[in-house]
Amino acid sequence: MLAFLVPVLILAMGLVGAHGTESPTCAPLVPADMDNATVDRLLGHWVYIMGASQYPPHMAEMRELKYATFTLFPGSHEDEFNVTEIMRLNETCVVKNSSKIHVFRHNSTLTHEDGQVVSMAELIHSDKDLFILKHFKDNHVGLSLSARTAEVTKEQLEEFEAQLRCHGFKLEEAFITSPKDACPAAGEETGEGSAATAEPQLG
Ligand SMILES: *[C@@H]1O[C@H](CO)[C@@H](O)[C@H](O)[C@H]1NC(C)=O
Ligand SMILES: *[C@@H]1O[C@H](CO)[C@@H](O)[C@H](O)[C@H]1NC(C)=O
Ligand SMILES: *[C@@H]1O[C@H](CO)[C@@H](O)[C@H](O)[C@H]1NC(C)=O
Ligand SMILES: *[C@@H]1O[C@H](CO)[C@@H](O)[C@H](O)[C@H]1NC(C)=O
Ligand SMILES: *[C@@H]1O[C@H](CO)[C@@H](O)[C@H](O)[C@H]1NC(C)=O
Repeated sequence: MLAFLVPVLILAMGLVGAHGTESPTCAPLVPADMDNATVDRLLGHWVYIMGASQYPPHMAEMRELKYATFTLFPGSHEDEFNVTEIMRLNETCVVKNSSKIHVFRHNSTLTHEDGQVVSMAELIHSDKDLFILKHFKDNHVGLSLSARTAEVTKEQLEEFEAQLRCHGFKLEEAFITSPKDACPAAGEETGEGSAATAEPQLG
């Protein structure tokens, strides 16, 4: 069943150390502890890998989203990020540089503000090279997985897929992006491999 996504996403490179809390059962998702280190580590470049939602408009958006990367920069205020998003919607690459993310530390919530559209999600405790969100919209839940690079380990993928199942999603309801749909870099920093993940510029 899963075979279709495994070849694209997995690079068995031993990128991560052992997880302390792997569980085949439905371990509850733990909200991230929102200290300075957690908030700071959100800075920089991320690749959106997969997601699922119960909310039909989000499902429609996810269906169009073939590939997406986003970069968080320090915003104008504390706990605010400016966001640049590069995404392929159907066939077309779109660059957005006007959205913002606000961090509410007390409840581990991030809001994404794109013009008039505000969406909300809880930041989930994870490996530092993953960015996992639990999205809320009315009474609908969604989950999304992003990572520092387009490759996640088999273990990371399986853990996320287990969470999808725990939240009542079938795996075939998840929308998965593919690096083959990456947008060509246009004036972006290129060819530095993992260097982009190292230290985002502060300032
Ligand atoms: C967290 O960062 C803020 C501002 O960057 C600073 O004022 C505060 O002292 C830091 N807190 C800790 C616990 O380091
Ligand atoms: C963040 O975006 C706002 C416009 O939305 C802009 O005025 C501000 O200069 C940006 N901040 C940084 C640090 O780029
Ligand atoms: C993507 O394709 C679908 C189906 O053809 C269409 O309904 C939708 O409007 C398209 N979205 C964009 C952003 O082009
Ligand atoms: C966003 O991009 C536009 C067009 O490239 C540019 O004029 C504008 O200054 C950018 N805004 C930010 C906040 O970077
Ligand atoms: C978290 O707190 C913010 C600000 O107090 C609030 O607007 C938001 O609804 C809260 N998020 C959740 C998921 O309850």
